[in-house]
Amino acid sequence: MVQRVLGVPYICLTVLFLPLIQGVEILDPGQVVYHETKTNGVVGRGVILECGPTLPDVYIWGFTQPGTDTIRAVVYNFGKGPKIQKLANDLGDLTVISNSASLSIEKLLLAAEGVYTCQALYDTPEGAKLYYYYVFLHVLVPVTKPYIVMSDSSPVEGTSVTMRCGLENGTGPINYIWEQESRESQLTIMAEIYDDNRFNVTDVNRNHTGWYRCLASNLVNQQRSDRIWLDIIFGPDQPQIDVTPYSVTERGYSALEKETVSLLCQASSNPPSQYVWFYNNSQVYTGPQFTITKVLRMHTGHYACLAQNTYLNTRSRKTITLTVYYPPDGAPTCSILPVSNYTDLALRCTWEGGIPAASLRWTPYVFGQESEGFTNITKIQKGEETANNTVFLCQGSHIASNEIKSCSARTWMPSGEPKCSAYATRNNEYLMLSCSWEGGFPRALVWWASSSGDMQGTSEENANILVLRSSATYSGKAFICHAKHPLTKETKQCALKLEAPVLVTQRSVMSVYEGSDVQLTCILSRNYPVTEITWYNNLKQHVNEIPKKYVLERAAAWTNLTVRETDSETDSGQYWCSATNAVGGAEIPIMLMVKRYPMPPNISISRIIYNSRQRTDVDLEWQLQTDGDLTGFFIERQRLPEPVKKRNGGLPWQKLVDLEPDSRSFQISNLDPLGSYAFRITAINHRTIGNPSEIKSPADPPFNAYPAVIGAAIGGMIIATIITVLLFMYVVRNRNNNPRLHDLIFGRQNSQSRENINFPEDEVPGTAEGEIGTGQPSSSVSPAASMALPRPSATPTNLPPGEEPVNVTITVMASS
Ligand SMILES: *[C@@H]1O[C@H](CO)[C@@H](O)[C@H](O)[C@H]1NC(C)=O
Ligand SMILES: *[C@@H]1O[C@H](CO)[C@@H](O)[C@H](O)[C@H]1NC(C)=O
Ligand SMILES: *[C@@H]1O[C@H](CO)[C@@H](O)[C@H](O)[C@H]1NC(C)=O
Ligand SMILES: *[C@@H]1O[C@H](CO)[C@@H](O)[C@H](O)[C@H]1NC(C)=O
Ligand SMILES: *[C@@H]1O[C@H](CO)[C@@H](O)[C@H](O)[C@H]1NC(C)=O
Ligand SMILES: *[C@@H]1O[C@H](CO)[C@@H](O)[C@H](O)[C@H]1NC(C)=O
Ligand SMILES: *[C@@H]1O[C@H](CO)[C@@H](O)[C@H](O)[C@H]1NC(C)=O
Ligand SMILES: *[C@@H]1O[C@H](CO)[C@@H](O)[C@H](O)[C@H]1NC(C)=O
Ligand SMILES: *[C@@H]1O[C@H](CO)[C@@H](O)[C@H](O)[C@H]1NC(C)=O
Repeated sequence: MVQRVLGVPYICLTVLFLPLIQGVEILDPGQVVYHETKTNGVVGRGVILECGPTLPDVYIWGFTQPGTDTIRAVVYNFGKGPKIQKLANDLGDLTVISNSASLSIEKLLLAAEGVYTCQALYDTPEGAKLYYYYVFLHVLVPVTKPYIVMSDSSPVEGTSVTMRCGLENGTGPINYIWEQESRESQLTIMAEIYDDNRFNVTDVNRNHTGWYRCLASNLVNQQRSDRIWLDIIFGPDQPQIDVTPYSVTERGYSALEKETVSLLCQASSNPPSQYVWFYNNSQVYTGPQFTITKVLRMHTGHYACLAQNTYLNTRSRKTITLTVYYPPDGAPTCSILPVSNYTDLALRCTWEGGIPAASLRWTPYVFGQESEGFTNITKIQKGEETANNTVFLCQGSHIASNEIKSCSARTWMPSGEPKCSAYATRNNEYLMLSCSWEGGFPRALVWWASSSGDMQGTSEENANILVLRSSATYSGKAFICHAKHPLTKETKQCALKLEAPVLVTQRSVMSVYEGSDVQLTCILSRNYPVTEITWYNNLKQHVNEIPKKYVLERAAAWTNLTVRETDSETDSGQYWCSATNAVGGAEIPIMLMVKRYPMPPNISISRIIYNSRQRTDVDLEWQLQTDGDLTGFFIERQRLPEPVKKRNGGLPWQKLVDLEPDSRSFQISNLDPLGSYAFRITAINHRTIGNPSEIKSPADPPFNAYPAVIGAAIGGMIIATIITVLLFMYVVRNRNNNPRLHDLIFGRQNSQSRENINFPEDEVPGTAEGEIGTGQPSSSVSPAASMALPRPSATPTNLPPGEEPVNVTITVMASS
């Protein structure tokens, strides 16, 4: 239709004046006047086609359809009013405007387009004038409401899309305006295209998403289409991950342990992305926001967000690193080490573990670069400038803990001076020089040097033992121990000198009477390392092995060896006192001479008799044959076999009693009246045992001579009484000096003798082999010969040494 309108190029002007005109006088045809106009009408509306300014006398309106040459009459008026032809109905509601030749067409039809020719004849005084009015009527059609047709309403980003603005009617040319209304209702004119209803968008992108309208306009009107949505499919883009709480370090994201961490993934996409979370490549969550409540150190690692566009089946991925911060365990560790050859202190503070590294700081010395740092810091502190007992504090802090942990270290110097000592290993194989300067923090360095200054062995902390193989060459040598602590500038020292032992004795010859104890003394001087004196007896035996015999007493310098109960035969000789240390040894002899006491005198039995016929008690009296020292007596008994046919030399002697040196008589009681006995008596001087007396058996008392006996007895009694009184007086006076005698006389009077003697005294066997105490056989048989030579005896005596012997002679006269 538009083309139809446009298709009318022009209207043929070759119009012949209608020859039909009647009744009109044409005076002078002259020249015809042509007049052309163009006018536009709009379908359905009205238009006025003019034919001259005044009403002509005669006129004819002709109509030529476009594309044809034919003129057809529409209206004419030959003076008798306009005559409207049928054709007019095809053009619209056509009327002639009164008093003019102009046509008014209401409700213009599209078919009304064409060339209208008004042939007008004016009768003027100058003659008739003919006018041709050509009116080119263009019937325009208004644009109808357009609509949009898209080649693809959901194109993928990057492809192209064509939109067409469809239009039912409308006279061209039509101008198209493309409007976009974004999501945000922002209106943008995307394009204005003249006379082409298509709108190509090559390489669409997401910004093209929105409502589209097209606006079509022509000369008549303009119309806007309904909006239509263009949905661009795209994505997902590279995701964006938001971590809350937000904390970024050079290693990636970080979070404090036990916090709640939320990872939000966003990737632009249409349709919207689907999200999957991965931790170290294993899937952990589906959805955009992955939240870890109470994040732990084990949650450190790589987190990847995968965004998927399920429509396009496309995906994109982003990985972040999340480091969970946690403080180190425990507290920092402080230590102080000696450095620079024990002149300075290295204050070391270490707090390992934890992410990131804990920060450490030494106080109070906050200044200086080395006093601050991470994990492991060492500050050098000048030893000399540090007072004893200084406390250094190291504070550790960590981002993941609001607590400050600290440690402290105190430096102090050992008190006093280093101590030197030397000792030897067993058997003096090695010599050990020990030096110690204990305590202190850090510990002091200790080393040994010879007197010439050469260092010996290695240097050690606190204590140092230098081990040397024992050698006499070290005797007299000095060793110096040096000790250095950082808190003092100077080196401390102690020294020792090794010396072989030197022994001296006060008396190198000792003599003593046998039986007593003797003390040998040995003094040790100049001895280092300290050793002990050892004693060897006269047989070169170690005295410690014979403990009952030898007693050792020690003091710092001397040792006394006591030889107990000396015996003249076994204990005399050379004793050795010896001392050996690792650098030498010494030995000195001490001569011990154990002397015997002299032989006591020989004794003879002066009287031996049963004192009654009951034969239970025997009175025994004896005499000293010579003068001499003695300390006591002892009486021995021998029970004789019955009948005594032959002399039996093997009979044992039984010791009955020990007596005081001043006793000269004794009553032997409690004898078997039927037995027969022999007796002997021996004197002793301390340990020396004299010769035994002759052996005698007691005689029976006489029983016929009562008067004589009684008389003698009375006489004897008188004498005895006198003597007894004298004796008693003596004993009483010397009670303290001689208690035994006192006891003997006053304490033993009630013993009764009831022994009978059956055989004569000359039949008493004289010899006893194995005399008591001597252990040596006797060769003598007769009573006279039974007196053995005095010989040393080891028989112990009950007499305490040193008791004064008392000489008392008691003579009892009795006639037999
Ligand atoms: C468009 O024009 C045709 C022919 O003239 C007519 O039949 C139709 O109704 C018109 N459409 C509109 C929407 O005016
Ligand atoms: C739009 O695209 C179509 C086919 O892709 C093409 O024929 C037409 O010429 C294009 N129009 C414009 C204005 O580019
Ligand atoms: C879309 O629009 C935004 C903002 O106007 C612009 O930054 C972006 O580059 C555009 N995108 C494309 C693909 O043109
Ligand atoms: C995850 O990976 C990180 C870095 O490689 C590693 O330190 C962590 O131990 C891994 N975690 C697990 C549970 O494997
Ligand atoms: C360390 O000190 C000792 C004793 O003061 C000295 O003999 C030694 O040469 C020193 N060593 C160094 C490396 O300074
Ligand atoms: C601390 O550092 C020192 C050197 O500065 C090093 O000798 C020491 O081994 C370190 N300690 C630890 C526990 O790593
Ligand atoms: C240093 O202090 C300690 C601890 O109080 C003390 O035992 C030591 O004797 C002091 N050292 C000196 C050299 O004063
Ligand atoms: C050891 O002997 C010495 C010298 O004889 C003497 O001075 C010292 O008292 C004796 N020690 C003892 C405990 O007897
Ligand atoms: C003592 O008796 C013995 C024999 O028994 C005799 O050899 C010795 O000479 C006597 N001594 C004296 C001083 O009579």
